[in-house]
Amino acid sequence: MNKHLIVSLDLNDLGKIKDIVKELEGLVGFYKVGAIPFTYFGLDLVKFLKDAGCKVMLDLKYHDIPNTVARACEGAVQMGVDFITIHTSGGFGMLEEAVKATLMVSEAKKINKPKLLGITVLTSIDEAYFKDLFGDLKRNLDEQVLFLAQLACSAGMDGVVASPKEVRFIRKECGKDLLIVTPGIRPHGKIVSADDQARTMTPKDAIIAGVDHMVIGRPIVKAVQPRQAAESIIKEIEDGLRETA
Ligand code: C5P
Repeated sequence: MNKHLIVSLDLNDLGKIKDIVKELEGLVGFYKVGAIPFTYFGLDLVKFLKDAGCKVMLDLKYHDIPNTVARACEGAVQMGVDFITIHTSGGFGMLEEAVKATLMVSEAKKINKPKLLGITVLTSIDEAYFKDLFGDLKRNLDEQVLFLAQLACSAGMDGVVASPKEVRFIRKECGKDLLIVTPGIRPHGKIVSADDQARTMTPKDAIIAGVDHMVIGRPIVKAVQPRQAAESIIKEIEDGLRETA
């Protein structure tokens, strides 16, 4: 079981999701449930994964006023998920309320506290689009990612979601204890599509850069042979781990 790989179940077909989880048994034990599968299957899917002994990253990217996000986090804790994502651009007050609420409910209900991860800048956004979107922001994309990662740290969040290209400087500024989770991973090989991801890296380079967990969706769940695709990604991760040992 590879602890670095989180497979993103971005599918609207519950039968197919269950087939993939079964096919990846013994290889993958951590799944991301994001907006697509959660909107279709909700808690049933989370329960299915927990009953199968898997960890769950609930990636609903909360972004709202502090009270709304804090109460949503309380609900997520009670689902028994392992990671929860929140947009750091919701601001310090929102993040801090979420941290407090998560801790209080976990303690009160004696549930393992899920890790709170702050989304920095989506990996589908590149430098040019970032400038279009935010106009004359005094920070460039990298500086904005670092600013948001530091905001997450100062609010007491457990980790951040960023592109693998930003891992080194986040790690340098925020320290070794911050969990860094990265989407935007594309396996080595010319025939692999980046899809809508703009800031990408291979699994091997990402692990060398120091990511804790990498979230990979389409290269596995849309593959003709998902198990084979996952095996070859895990091999790349292991190659990277050997190089850093
Ligand atoms: O299919 P792919 O490997 O691109 O999937 C990446 C997953 O990571 C998607 O579910 C996407 O929503 C999620 N994600 C992302 N960028 C972020 C945060 C999450 O791509 N910054």
